[in-house]
Amino acid sequence: MKVIALVTQKGGTGKSSLAISLAVATIERGLKSYVIDLDPQATAKNWFERREAEAPEVAAIEPSKVSAALAMLARQKVDLVFIDTAGVDTPATTAAMQAADLCLIPARPSIADIEAARPTVRTLSKLDRPYAFVLNQCPAGRSIRTTDAFRVLSLTGAVAGVSLAMRADHLDALAAGQGVTERDTSGKAASEMRELLTWLINRLEGKTHDEKARVA
Ligand SMILES: Nc1ncnc2c1ncn2[C@@H]1O[C@H](COP(=O)(O)OP(=O)(O)O)[C@@H](O)[C@H]1O
Ligand SMILES: [Mg+2]
Repeated sequence: MKVIALVTQKGGTGKSSLAISLAVATIERGLKSYVIDLDPQATAKNWFERREAEAPEVAAIEPSKVSAALAMLARQKVDLVFIDTAGVDTPATTAAMQAADLCLIPARPSIADIEAARPTVRTLSKLDRPYAFVLNQCPAGRSIRTTDAFRVLSLTGAVAGVSLAMRADHLDALAAGQGVTERDTSGKAASEMRELLTWLINRLEGKTHDEKARVA
């Protein structure tokens, strides 16, 4: 079992959307996933209540119970656990970081999001936890803004080789209790999410280390 925490102090970057849609895409691959919601705003938990399908299960738990919950999920042979966290630094976020095999930091290709992630990166470095940025809500198509953000992030740390564009399917999926891969199964947002999951699984298996070589 591998644990992925979605972290960054900036709200609206896509932590909850990625937790949910990656968990759904994991199931579509024939694997078992689970979402732990540590955010009092309960975006993921509320999404689950709107959802018709039973999987992936989403549970809001006390931060102090994260370790016990993960031990139970490991016994249940869950493959990937996604932990969604709040957009503020709380003991819950630290608990998620410590439990994670990999932390994903969603960021829009904007200086504000990248700057806002600095305290998160500092904490992750202090805790010696591996992390990768994921560029989200990028302009569709090739964009200098995305390329620049990718370059900046890859110079300072790891960044996922797959970026997600700004697409209405993400908003509609969240409202409908769906993963973005279920919204329009052959849409661009769906294929980007599947590609991100492939990148994530490769990274967790140690097949991809960082993206520095790609931009050098
Ligand atoms: N790639 C995307 N394209 C369009 N809208 C997106 C995308 N990713 C997230 N969103 C939307 O942006 C808003 C904030 O996303 P959310 O996942 O709630 O962020 P966070 O959990 O970091 O606060 C939501 O309305 C979500 O549907
Ligand atoms: Mg959220």
